[in-house]
Amino acid sequence: MAPMLSLVTGALSVALLTLSAAAFPTENNTYEYIIVGTGPGGAPLAANLARAGHSVLVLEAGDDQTENVNVSQWLNFNAAGNDPATRWDFFVKHSDDEAREARYKHRTWRKTDGGFYVGTEPPQGAKPLGIYYPRAGTLGGCAMHNGCLTMNPNDLDWDEIAETTGDDSWSAENMRKYLVKLEKVHYNSSYEHGHNGWLDMTMLDPGFTTSADAKDLSQKAAVAAGYSAADTSKLLARDMNGDQPNRDNLVGPFGGVSHINPNGRRSSPGYYLRDTVAEKKYPITLSLDTLATKIIFNKNGTKPKAIGVEFLQGKSLYSADPRHNPSQKGTPGSAYASKEVIISGGAFNSPQLLLLSGIGPAAHLKKFDIPVVKDLPGVGQSVADNYEAGILSLASRAVTGQGEIFPNFWKTSVGKIRDIYMWCGSFAFEGFWPGFPNIPPYFNGTYGPKQYECALVHMNPRSQAGVIELQSTDPRAVPAINLNFFKEKGSDKDLTSILEGIEWVRSWLVKANSSSPNSLGPFQELHPCEGEIGKQNCTEKAQKTYLKEQAYSHHATSSCRIGADRDKGAVLDSKFRVRGVEGLRVVDASSFPKVPGGFPILPTMMLSEKASEILIKGL
Ligand SMILES: Cc1cc2nc3c(=O)[nH]c(=O)nc-3n(C[C@H](O)[C@H](O)[C@H](O)COP(=O)(O)OP(=O)(O)OC[C@H]3O[C@@H](n4cnc5c(N)ncnc54)[C@H](O)[C@@H]3O)c2cc1C
Ligand SMILES: *[C@@H]1O[C@H](CO)[C@@H](O)[C@H](O)[C@H]1NC(C)=O
Ligand SMILES: *[C@@H]1O[C@H](CO)[C@@H](O)[C@H](O)[C@H]1NC(C)=O
Ligand SMILES: *[C@@H]1O[C@H](CO)[C@@H](O)[C@H](O)[C@H]1NC(C)=O
Ligand SMILES: *[C@@H]1O[C@H](CO)[C@@H](O)[C@H](O)[C@H]1NC(C)=O
Ligand SMILES: *[C@@H]1O[C@H](CO)[C@@H](O)[C@H](O)[C@H]1NC(C)=O
Ligand SMILES: *[C@@H]1O[C@H](CO)[C@@H](O)[C@H](O)[C@H]1NC(C)=O
Ligand SMILES: *[C@@H]1O[C@H](CO)[C@@H](O)[C@H](O)[C@H]1NC(C)=O
Repeated sequence: MAPMLSLVTGALSVALLTLSAAAFPTENNTYEYIIVGTGPGGAPLAANLARAGHSVLVLEAGDDQTENVNVSQWLNFNAAGNDPATRWDFFVKHSDDEAREARYKHRTWRKTDGGFYVGTEPPQGAKPLGIYYPRAGTLGGCAMHNGCLTMNPNDLDWDEIAETTGDDSWSAENMRKYLVKLEKVHYNSSYEHGHNGWLDMTMLDPGFTTSADAKDLSQKAAVAAGYSAADTSKLLARDMNGDQPNRDNLVGPFGGVSHINPNGRRSSPGYYLRDTVAEKKYPITLSLDTLATKIIFNKNGTKPKAIGVEFLQGKSLYSADPRHNPSQKGTPGSAYASKEVIISGGAFNSPQLLLLSGIGPAAHLKKFDIPVVKDLPGVGQSVADNYEAGILSLASRAVTGQGEIFPNFWKTSVGKIRDIYMWCGSFAFEGFWPGFPNIPPYFNGTYGPKQYECALVHMNPRSQAGVIELQSTDPRAVPAINLNFFKEKGSDKDLTSILEGIEWVRSWLVKANSSSPNSLGPFQELHPCEGEIGKQNCTEKAQKTYLKEQAYSHHATSSCRIGADRDKGAVLDSKFRVRGVEGLRVVDASSFPKVPGGFPILPTMMLSEKASEILIKGL
C-alpha cells in the first residue's frame, strides 16, 4: 500500500533525517500545520485542512494497517484489539489501594519467563503490570479497532460544554451540524442526516426477524421500558442519532448505528486520511513510523509560540508497541509549522507530549528537570472514563441466533437523563486483558452457548479523578496512568446507576421463567450476584463492592481538558487553544471537559470537524 500512496515511511526516510522525501516537499521543512496523531481527533482535521488548500504534515507513530482484515472487516474488531500489528499495550491502575488492585479478576502480571499471567493468584516471582488498557498505535488510531458504535451524545452533554465555557457553538443544536457534515448515512431515518460525508453509517440488523430468542428477549426489554411488545421491531429501528425531541429521555431498545459501510467494511477517519493523501492533489504529507517527541517553541515573544516538532523515525519506537525493541532508538528529525502545531495523540499520549515539551504542572516537570515552558496544572489531570460492567448469566438452554439488543438505554433514579447504555446478547464481555476473547467466534465464547450478557456503560459518570504522569523523560516510555475509579465525591451514585441498570435487566430476564415452554429461563447469574435470577439474595453493598472493584473502561478522555477562563485546571479554551502559549492546540478525546456522553468516537470526530471549521475560517 505504502509506495502507491506516497506515504513517507520510516524505512524510506530513515536515511534522510528529514522529511525531504515528502509527497509535497516544502521549503525549509516548513508546513502551515503540523498534526501529531491520526485518530478520530487528528485524521479528519488533517484531511479537511489539506482539502481546504493548507499545507499539512501529519506525524503518526504507527504504520498503515488499513487493509489488514482484522481492521478492515469490522466484525474482527476484538481480533484487531489483540493484533500486535496495531496494538499499543497500556497497563493502568484503578486506585492507589494495592489490596483492591490485587482483587481485580483480570489483573495482568509479567511472569519470570516474560509471558503474561492474568488473574488473582500469580505464579512465584511474577510482577504486577496493572489493568490492561488496549489502544491502537496505527494509522487511524483507536477508530481502527473499536466496535464501530457511533452515538451522538445526549443534548445535555453538549449543552453543558456550552454552559461551562460560555461558548454557544458547543450547543447540541450547533454540534449536530458537524454530525450531518461528516456522515454518509445508509439507513432509513425520518430525521435530517448527511449523505455526502466521509463516514459511512449503517444500522445493524438485530436479528429480530431471524431469531426467536432475539425477538423474545428484546420484546421483554421493550415491555420493561414501558412499550408494548408489538412496538419492538419499530423500536429496534429507532435512530439513536436522530434529533427526536426529548431524545435524552428515550429509553429501551434502539437501532445500532455503526461506522461501517453496508458491506461490513470499517469506515473511519484513517481511511478518510489515507484516501485524501492517495488522491495526490492536496498539499498533505503523511509520515508514518514517526513518533513526535517534543514540541519546539520560540520563546522570544511575550508568550512561548509553538513553531515545530521534534520526532524519532523508525518502526515500533513507542514501548507500548508489543514489537518494540528497546535497542532501536530511532532516527531523530524535526519539522516546522508556519501557522500552528496540533496535538491529537489521544487521551494518554497528548498529555505525555505536552509534559515532555515543558507544558504541565511545574512541580512535576521539575522532578524530571524539564524546563517549564508554561506551568499548566491541568495537564494529565482530571482524566475521565466511562465505567463499564456486565450482568452475565447462563440461560437454561443454548441461546439461538445472536439474541442481540444493541443498544438499549435506561434512565436510573440518579440520572438527570438516560444514563445507562447497554448492549445485550449471547456473549461474554468482561473487560480487557492480553488475549481477551476475539470475535468471531464471539458467540459461545468463554461460557458456551447458554451465555447471555448485558454489558453496561455508565454514560455520565462523575469519573474525573484520573492522573497521567511521566515516569521517564524518554519519549518512548509509557506514562503512569491511575484512573482513580470512584474516587470523587458522590461516586456512590455512579454505583447506584450501574446497579439499577443491572436490576432493570433482571426485571425482564426473570420473566423468561421455566413455566413457559422452551423458555430460556431461569437464568443463572454469574456476576455481579451469583444465583438464579429472581431468587438471589446479594446485598446492595456486596454488589456495589463487586462493581467498584471489577468495573473496567476503555473510553478515557479529558486529560487536556477544555474549561472556562477562571478554571485553573483548564488546559484548553473552547477553541482548543492551549492556554498560556501560542500556536498550539489539542484536538482529540483528551480535549473533552468530561466524558462526552455515550461512546467517544463519534463525538471526537465531531470535535475534529469543529476544529477544522475554526482553523479554516479563522474563527
Ligand atoms: C475493543 C475496543 C472497542 C471499542 N469500541 C468503541 C466503540 O464501539 N465506539 C466508540 O466510540 N469507542 C470505542 N472504543 C474506544 C475508542 O476506540 C477510543 O476511546 C478512542 O478512539 C480514543 O481516541 P483518542 O482520542 O484516545 O485517540 P486515538 O484513537 O488513540 O489516536 C491517537 C493516535 O495518535 C498516535 N500517536 C500517539 N502519540 C503519538 C506521538 N507521540 N507521535 C505520533 N503519533 C502518536 C497513535 O498512534 C494513534 O494513532 C473502543 C475501544 C476498544 C479498545
Ligand atoms: C526558508 O529559509 C530562507 C532563508 O532563511 C528564508 O528566506 C525563507 O523565507 C524560508 N522559507 C519559508 C517557507 O519559511
Ligand atoms: C489478526 O489478529 C490476530 C490477533 O488477534 C493475529 O493472530 C492475526 O495474525 C491477525 N491477522 C492478520 C491477517 O494480520
Ligand atoms: C429504506 O426504505 C425503503 C422504502 O421503504 C426500502 O426499500 C429500503 O430497503 C430501506 N433501506 C434500508 C437500508 O432499510
Ligand atoms: C530568538 O532570539 C534570538 C536572539 O535575538 C535569535 O538568535 C533567535 O534566532 C530567535 N529565535 C527564534 C526562533 O526566532
Ligand atoms: C455454539 O455451540 C453450539 C453447541 O456447542 C454449536 O452447535 C454452535 O455451532 C456454536 N456456535 C458458534 C457460532 O460457534
Ligand atoms: C413466568 O412466565 C409466565 C408465562 O410467560 C408469566 O405469566 C409469569 O408472570 C412469569 N413469572 C414471573 C415470576 O415472571
Ligand atoms: C441466600 O443466603 C443464604 C444465607 O446467606 C445462603 O445460604 C443462600 O445460598 C443464598 N441464596 C442464594 C441464591 O444465593
